[in-house]
Amino acid sequence: MTPLKVYVTRMIPDEGLARLRERCEVSVNPEDRPLTRAELLTRSAGMDGVLGLLTDRIDAGFFDAVPGLKGYANYAVGYDNIDLPEATRRGIPVSNTPDVLTQATAELAWTLLLAVARRVVESDRVMRSGTWPGWGPLQFIGADVSGKTLGIVGPGRIGQAMARMSKGFGMRVVYWGGRQPSRVLEDEMGAERLSFAELLSQSDFISVHLPLNPETRHLFNADTLRMMKPTAFLINTARGPVIDEADLVEALNKRIIAGAGLDVYEAEPKMAPGLDTCPNAVLLPHVGSGTHSSRTGMALLAAENLLAMLEGRTPPTCLNPEVLSKK
Ligand code: DGY
Repeated sequence: MTPLKVYVTRMIPDEGLARLRERCEVSVNPEDRPLTRAELLTRSAGMDGVLGLLTDRIDAGFFDAVPGLKGYANYAVGYDNIDLPEATRRGIPVSNTPDVLTQATAELAWTLLLAVARRVVESDRVMRSGTWPGWGPLQFIGADVSGKTLGIVGPGRIGQAMARMSKGFGMRVVYWGGRQPSRVLEDEMGAERLSFAELLSQSDFISVHLPLNPETRHLFNADTLRMMKPTAFLINTARGPVIDEADLVEALNKRIIAGAGLDVYEAEPKMAPGLDTCPNAVLLPHVGSGTHSSRTGMALLAAENLLAMLEGRTPPTCLNPEVLSKK
């Protein structure tokens, strides 16, 4: 029997590749950079399964180029890079990697929150510049966190983990989003569900945990940023386009809000002009899930999903399970 052929669009932790190699012939992009569109299409052609990244656009053009595709596994929880309705229409199962990165991403959101509130990056820079004159009562005064109001925008798994971690700071937790009230947030954390406008005006820290879709694109823009407290901070570890980045630069420069902590950007790897010179922004290169256990968990889960799709088993985290019953 000819072995099943799988293409992996970028190096992932060995554990995932080893799992795939037990059952398939695996080819991997050997270079540590995303594939160009042309490379993605030509290298995936003739494959039974593809394991790809959030930087790969998986759409009708991709499916046309890989006519024998039996499954696509995304190495990410977010899947705005995939035309899921198109995959479903063609009967192609698609999966993502939830859960394994929840804690790591929430921890990074907290890292950003604390770093921007206490001006950690600015302070670090002064130490390295050799210009620190010694202790001073008015240097690098930051914002309090304990006892403040944390606004969770998007009460899914990562938003809940972020809220749970606020317990040590004795914060009031409010949230917006979700079709139903979040039992976890309300029962476990005593969180209050607010309208978006109420959350904007009451929160001292707003942390974004929404998927990117037409409803959430530019949810934060000049108008909504203006509804935040001038002392409030905005944290984003979800997807960049949820915030209009040019409007955010203006809001940061004019001190319409106090600061922002960002791990994601509208047009990665680029940033909006002027963001890099905002002293009140802490900027990270999309590393929310970047811990050993989380990235290894993603690799193993993506590999399991792909193998299950190719072998006709139920993938653990399939995004369109309705196509499985039709096989
Ligand atoms: C995701 O999984 O969606 C993150 O953005 C990368 O881990």
